[in-house]
Amino acid sequence: MTGTKIDGKLIAQSVKDRVKQAVNELKKQDINPCLATVLVGDNPASATYVRNKHKACDEVGIATKDHKLDANITQLELNKIIDELNSDKSVHGILVQLPLPDQLDEFATTSRISPLKDVDGLTPHNAGLLAMKKAALVACTPSGVMEMFDFHDIDLEGMNVVLINRSNLVGKPLYHLLLQENATVLTCHSRTKNLTELCQNADIVITAVGDRNKFTLTQDMIKEGAIVIDVAISRHNDKLVGDADYDDIIQKASFATPVPGGVGPMTVAMLLKNTITAASLSSQIG
Ligand code: GUN
Repeated sequence: MTGTKIDGKLIAQSVKDRVKQAVNELKKQDINPCLATVLVGDNPASATYVRNKHKACDEVGIATKDHKLDANITQLELNKIIDELNSDKSVHGILVQLPLPDQLDEFATTSRISPLKDVDGLTPHNAGLLAMKKAALVACTPSGVMEMFDFHDIDLEGMNVVLINRSNLVGKPLYHLLLQENATVLTCHSRTKNLTELCQNADIVITAVGDRNKFTLTQDMIKEGAIVIDVAISRHNDKLVGDADYDDIIQKASFATPVPGGVGPMTVAMLLKNTITAASLSSQIG
């Protein structure tokens, strides 16, 4: 069988259309939603991601503030900038692009962000709320994946899901979101034994390794009619690739996401949605 493409660009556009309407409503209440981004250093991939996020904000009428910081900035200096953004009433969302240079501590940085402005859902406060099914701000890539299931009316109840990632940004939030929809979730990682066998038994495989030299998800590793969500994006032989070759996997899967044009656009769309949520939260609090 040849499966159905889960078109991230199309689904992201439907999210953006809804966000645009919400932006207009907020503006009628004199709230001008604004996202502040912080980019430390000159990692070209990170610079591209941040540029894309600004462009998407522009498209839906969200204002942006752009902080490009020297690669050698200290933790104290970065903390000061985050503190300023936390107390700036015109800023509703704060995104510090990851990864950070080695001298900076990722946890110290992201947990410094006010939970009300934490559009990445990375603060201990918001991560904890997610585990208790009470989160307003959830990490963008995981919520984008859930939006894709919803768009295609894929009922997750009772599904066996293999998740190949355990990061704070992808695997852990996805685990909670899937569990909340009554899926059975197995979180795998580099030290998991019998990964191929586990994948072969899964109804859904969500993969986010991002290094083709270490891992490729191939047709023989999934069961007929499985759903494959490819969260990874990396450069391999001068091409942007995921963990799977879409043209290969779609011949056996019932649904699959391409790379590029799959999960990537969803991450950006959900960031816009979170910024609107953060702007609404701030208006309720004053
Ligand atoms: N780097 C790669 N993905 C992300 C993301 O979703 N948020 C942040 N802050 N950094 C990232």
